[in-house]
Amino acid sequence: MGSVGAKEVPQLLDAQGKRIDGRGLEELRPLSIEAGVLRRADGSARVEWGDNKVLAAVYGPREVHPRHLQQPNKAVVQCRYNMASFSVDERKRPGLDRRSQEISKVISEAFESVLFVEEYPRTSIDIYIEVLQANAGTRCAGVVAASVALADAGIPMVDLVPAVAVGKIGGQIALDLKKEEDNYGEADLPMALVPRSGRLVLLQMEGHMTHEELKRALDLGVRGCQEIYQKQKEALRTRYRLEAPAPTEVEA
Ligand code: CDP
Repeated sequence: MGSVGAKEVPQLLDAQGKRIDGRGLEELRPLSIEAGVLRRADGSARVEWGDNKVLAAVYGPREVHPRHLQQPNKAVVQCRYNMASFSVDERKRPGLDRRSQEISKVISEAFESVLFVEEYPRTSIDIYIEVLQANAGTRCAGVVAASVALADAGIPMVDLVPAVAVGKIGGQIALDLKKEEDNYGEADLPMALVPRSGRLVLLQMEGHMTHEELKRALDLGVRGCQEIYQKQKEALRTRYRLEAPAPTEVEA
């Protein structure tokens, strides 16, 4: 531990360049994704990623609530990101705070740009993200879960959307920050990508890095997203392989 003022700051990289959980700089935390976990939703997914546990449920296209949000020429995409009171160390006050509202807004906008919203005028596509356990990167885990849930619901979209936070810790660019790295690192940069086109649909940054570091961080994030993308596709394959009807025998 080092100390800054009265605060004890953990050493984020050891002499070998390993992180506090033993990972290398370009390594993701363990990630598991399951599609179709909730019976009442049109589509759903569960993501466990390091110490994050996130559920996504999707409905639609369906009637818009509240009605005045209805758009004559396209579907509205309404995301509600919610962090459970018991998901963090210090009990979070229940309900939508400013942080949840901001995250809900950026995720809604990210998905509006990948869903074929013009095909479904006067409807709503509703995405619920519930964070049950949090350890940094929950907005990205939410995006990963929501895009699998949207595919599970059969809602047409350009591509699945993988997401990950890259950042700077101990002077180095690192993939997929955990809580201590997010808290005590120099920068945190969550991003979400449309792999097919290479288009970024969510990009935020807290902290500081140089232009050169930013380029390296984006490259590393894109590579991380490719890895996550494979796991998203695998989750959907597993879901539909299990549910596929047995092939019927063809009579000679
Ligand atoms: O979760 P994400 O990295 O997308 O968002 P953040 O605002 O950078 O939050 C980083 C982490 O701080 C969260 O994942 C939680 O682990 C923690 N946090 C918390 O303990 N209490 C809050 N009210 C908000 C966040």
